[in-house]
Amino acid sequence: MSDFVKFLDKNLPNVVSFHPHYNNALKDMLKAGGKHFRANLLLGVVNALKPELTQSAMRVALGLEMLHTYSLIHDDLPVMDNAPLRRGVSTLHVRYDEVTAVLVGDALNTQAFYEISQADLSADIRIKCVEILSQNGGMSGMVLGQALDCHFENTLLGLDELKFLHIHKTAKLIAAALKMGAVIAGADEKMCNEIYSIGIDLGLAFQIQDDIIDATSDESKAGKPVHNDSEKNSFTNLMGVDGAIKAKNELIDKILTALEKLPNAINDVVKALINKHLV
Ligand code: IPE
Ligand code: IPE
Ligand code: MG
Ligand code: MG
Ligand code: MG
Repeated sequence: MSDFVKFLDKNLPNVVSFHPHYNNALKDMLKAGGKHFRANLLLGVVNALKPELTQSAMRVALGLEMLHTYSLIHDDLPVMDNAPLRRGVSTLHVRYDEVTAVLVGDALNTQAFYEISQADLSADIRIKCVEILSQNGGMSGMVLGQALDCHFENTLLGLDELKFLHIHKTAKLIAAALKMGAVIAGADEKMCNEIYSIGIDLGLAFQIQDDIIDATSDESKAGKPVHNDSEKNSFTNLMGVDGAIKAKNELIDKILTALEKLPNAINDVVKALINKHLV
């Protein structure tokens, strides 16, 4: 088991009350796992540059996974993608009810920033992480992307609009994961910006792969419904599966070239995650 999974298991939410299922619902989607792609990017960068801070960065990685998990809980609601399965288990609105799913999402969103505030890192680094996560995961980031994704269902967007949508919906949070890792490790501003820009391309490639999974995989392998995006502005709908694979590979080539400018240890960790999840 990776250290992050151990840390997550030890630090699952635990709220005592007389509510019959609130506390279980807070934990369910976190326990169900997922790939932990964003946490592994953040921790991988810290470990590559400043291994002595990896343990302290765990709380920030946990906060990041909480915010990401909230986004998925809301994404699965009937009013959005209406998905009954996530990470191989029933979604919260199916297992409990919609009220529970909405509120658990709200709770994990807030808790994300509490976790960062409690990390054993200097105050200026914690504030910087709060800034990066809120900018990229909030109203000008992921939430905007989700708003565009939902509003323009059934309306065909052009390629530039499609890119804008997916940069916000997915890529900004992935870029934020890399940048928070660089900030925690004390990288200079130039390196933080380079790594963020690699993260935007990586996030786009990740969303293309997610769209390819929707078009070509099956539910048991994906752990979530497939063929669910037929009305969406997905990369596969706009350019076909072959076109999407080509676009993903072009992005990966661009990322690998950009990575050469960064320290070898970062190069290795990002490449390993690309090989594991994107090819
Ligand atoms: C799913 O994210 C939503 C996208 C932005 C593509 P992940 O594929 O990282 O989901 P988990 O965390 O592994 O479940
Ligand atoms: C959701 O994108 C991305 C989020 C910001 C939550 P999708 O709707 O494609 O994610 P999946 O396929 O349900 O995981
Ligand atoms: Mg969606
Ligand atoms: Mg969805
Ligand atoms: Mg998807």
